[in-house]
Amino acid sequence: MAQIVGYVGTSHVPSIGNAIARNLQEDAYWKPFFDGFPEARKWVDKVRPDVIVLFYNDHGLNFFLDKMPTFAVGAAPRYANADEGWGLPNFGSYRGYPELSWHIIEQLVEDEFDPVSCQEMVVDHAFAIPLKLLWPEGTGDIRVVPIAINTVQHPLPSARRCLKLGQSVGRAIASWPEHLNVLVMGTGGLSHQLDGQRAGFINRTFDEICLNKLVAEPEALTGYTTTELVDLAGTQGVEVLNWIAARGALDGHIREVHRNYHVPISNTAAALLVLENQV
Ligand code: DHB
Ligand code: FE
Repeated sequence: MAQIVGYVGTSHVPSIGNAIARNLQEDAYWKPFFDGFPEARKWVDKVRPDVIVLFYNDHGLNFFLDKMPTFAVGAAPRYANADEGWGLPNFGSYRGYPELSWHIIEQLVEDEFDPVSCQEMVVDHAFAIPLKLLWPEGTGDIRVVPIAINTVQHPLPSARRCLKLGQSVGRAIASWPEHLNVLVMGTGGLSHQLDGQRAGFINRTFDEICLNKLVAEPEALTGYTTTELVDLAGTQGVEVLNWIAARGALDGHIREVHRNYHVPISNTAAALLVLENQV
């Protein structure tokens, strides 16, 4: 049986990609952010995942405003990184796991979700940067299943719906017959707003509430409406939905391994949360 070994939530700000390419990890601006990662890398090296199921949002690379699936699951043998327009370095490609992807899609449909299945898919900064932060030398043989959630064009799925999506993915993983160590990840956020009158908006108090609830009682986050999340976290801070979805997949005893929080990286409150799932 496959088991979920744990969870990593992290921000995915595009400029991190350029900072990595230019080796700015020790630079005064970047250091408090990058200093969060050695501890997380030590932990992923210890739990040695075979598979990463990564919840993120596509920023107009696969899906633009003309066609916007609420939930899309990758079912491709390989996923290439591509840049939707930030001028970012390319971090290569990732080995897929179509059989596990289809197993997850079947469970989702069984549970009355209607995901778009993607047998071809490219992945943007929201996928590639978090993996580069955790595996600077590349993910190698580790296989990936990307799950894209629409956090871009309203109407967005509710926090409650996203948590349930993650729970369904968790059931799919639990019923996979072969032994696999699975890491779930959620990327984006935390609070940020890139445009409009509140551009630059950050809400440390709400971010701390989110981090604490993600550890101990994720259901508490399902009480917020999407409008309330926009209000509290910013128009792009709703990317916390990816973190909530990923957290839904955990079903064991949760131990917080590590967290880091630093304001700002670009326009974003950058956060990192590592949880171990003891089955
Ligand atoms: C920024 C943050 C994001 O999550 C993103 O997708 C793009 C830009 C930023 O803070 O610059
Ligand atoms: Fe984003």
